[in-house]
Amino acid sequence: MKVGVMASGRGSNFQAIIDAGIRGETPDVEIVHLIVNKKDAYAIERAKKHGINFDVVDSSTMDRDKFDQKVIDLFREKNIEVVVLAGFMRILTPIFIKTYRNKILNIHPSLLPAFPGAHAHRDTINNGAKISGCTAHLVDEGIDSGPIIMQASIEVENGETEDSLSAKILIHEHEILPKALQLLCSDKLIIIGRKVEIKTD
Ligand code: GRF
Repeated sequence: MKVGVMASGRGSNFQAIIDAGIRGETPDVEIVHLIVNKKDAYAIERAKKHGINFDVVDSSTMDRDKFDQKVIDLFREKNIEVVVLAGFMRILTPIFIKTYRNKILNIHPSLLPAFPGAHAHRDTINNGAKISGCTAHLVDEGIDSGPIIMQASIEVENGETEDSLSAKILIHEHEILPKALQLLCSDKLIIIGRKVEIKTD
């Protein structure tokens, strides 16, 4: 499947899906295009290095509807079938979600439905959670509320900081995001309401 990636910054999750492809772990995934909403996003360097087309659609210069329509148009031109949000720090409008219903994958650094939103690590620590992790999920109209595909867990240790927690969880993000993407692109997901079952053949 032709995959479009959206990122806002560092892009280590973008790199993880590139690397999984190079290792031959995602045979049904073709990363075709990257969209960043900030012109200084490091994800751009990763796209350049791997010869992946990219566009900067500066979200500070247009409203949400216009931004989303621009991305939809760019993705349509490239026949994008599946969208990955790899550290894309912006809420998508219902028109975008409808266009790619059950075809948008996000990676979030907590065990959803605990701690959705932009401050998952901080919220995890401040609430004294003992276990955390990451979630690969489909995107719906809510904030980090779509059907869960895959999760991985870690222990939150004494003295954990946002940085140490983030680093621990990131390792697992890089593992489950490519796996969830391959499952989505190989049509192995059965979506029943809020539940996702993985086909075994
Ligand atoms: C990751 O922790 C991801 O879970 C969250 O934003 C961060 C992005 O990191 N949504 P990167 O840009 O992929 O390195």
